[in-house]
Amino acid sequence: MQNVIINSDSLTELPRLPSESIDLIFADPPYYMRTEGVLYRTEGTEFQGCNDSWDKFDSLEDYESFTIQWLTECRRLLKPSGSIWVIGSMQCIYTIGSAMQKLGYWLINDIVWHKTNPTPNFMGTRLNNSHETLIWAVKDKHSKFTFHYKTAKALNSEASGRQMGSVWRFPVCSGNERLKDSSGHKLHSTQKPLAMLERIIAISSNIGDTVLDPFAGTMTTAAAAKKLGRNYIMIERDKTYCSYGAERLKNIAFEDSEISRAEFDVKPQRVRMSEMIKAGCFKAGEKFLLNDGIEYAELQSDGKLLYNGRIIDMHTCAALAKNLRAKRVNGFDFWYVLRENELVSIRIIRENYRNNNKEE
Ligand SMILES: C[S@@+](CC[C@H](N)C(=O)[O-])C[C@H]1O[C@@H](n2cnc3c(N)ncnc32)[C@H](O)[C@@H]1O
Repeated sequence: MQNVIINSDSLTELPRLPSESIDLIFADPPYYMRTEGVLYRTEGTEFQGCNDSWDKFDSLEDYESFTIQWLTECRRLLKPSGSIWVIGSMQCIYTIGSAMQKLGYWLINDIVWHKTNPTPNFMGTRLNNSHETLIWAVKDKHSKFTFHYKTAKALNSEASGRQMGSVWRFPVCSGNERLKDSSGHKLHSTQKPLAMLERIIAISSNIGDTVLDPFAGTMTTAAAAKKLGRNYIMIERDKTYCSYGAERLKNIAFEDSEISRAEFDVKPQRVRMSEMIKAGCFKAGEKFLLNDGIEYAELQSDGKLLYNGRIIDMHTCAALAKNLRAKRVNGFDFWYVLRENELVSIRIIRENYRNNNKEE
């Protein structure tokens, strides 16, 4: 089952999906806001916050039990390499985080979504709530999950090219991005910013992966997934949200890009020294020198080095020859060969070899 919107209850639908079939889950569950009465702006107009029937629970115990049920199913559905993102406000995120840890999930990060245009605290009775929290987790401590580190760097709007941090600034969804109902009012009280979902999906999944959202609302997750070439399974109980969401998806197409393909994170093709010797890039018996041009080892036909009477791999040999505390370093950072009387890094020679022998 791929690229579907299921108009139903997640507690009924999640158990129907096969175990370990999902690469990535984004969940934006009910907040259990517990708000009462009508909220007015300072100028007197009514503010439409999240006071929806889907957000009502009988008690905290009821909400906890609901949380445990869907989180248990999500853990069963995740592939061993998969991960889950859950977003929530102060009203629910502690219940969710606690349940996740009790169920065996392993937390990778918690991220603060700093809303750059938050709803004011109209009464001035407490601090303005200007963030929500995202929990990013895996099935267990040993999960080898997808993380496109360099793609995240490229997407870092705070400091381009630097490591992405755990405070993300996005405005609350507004303007044209905000879906409107037939009378022009906002369709959904908690539609999430598309840019945030694109970031999440781009850094923690691959093209062709399957993304599940058990509380899909206006289908923001599906919109981002489709744009990035991922498959989606969306579950949403409300029929109106489903039909507006389906319309929204019709206007979205896959955008092939370095980000969608996570090109920055593609690992370079592995090249063996013995292969480069065969190809004539190096000669058995030639000197591998350190950058002082004095200390050297002698290359063997199998790619190992002869140094002080011992035959060892070039990484261990570099650490020894440099007298480093580490037992092994990356030999490509340390060894040079002589070409036309000049020291040339063996890394450069490997790069040239790679470029001339690219796999299609
Ligand atoms: C916080 S909103 C998600 C908003 C969504 N991320 C978006 O960008 O539009 C939660 C959604 O979950 C839906 N929902 C609540 N309980 C549900 C359940 N048991 N099964 C399926 N959907 C549910 C609600 O109708 C609501 O649209």
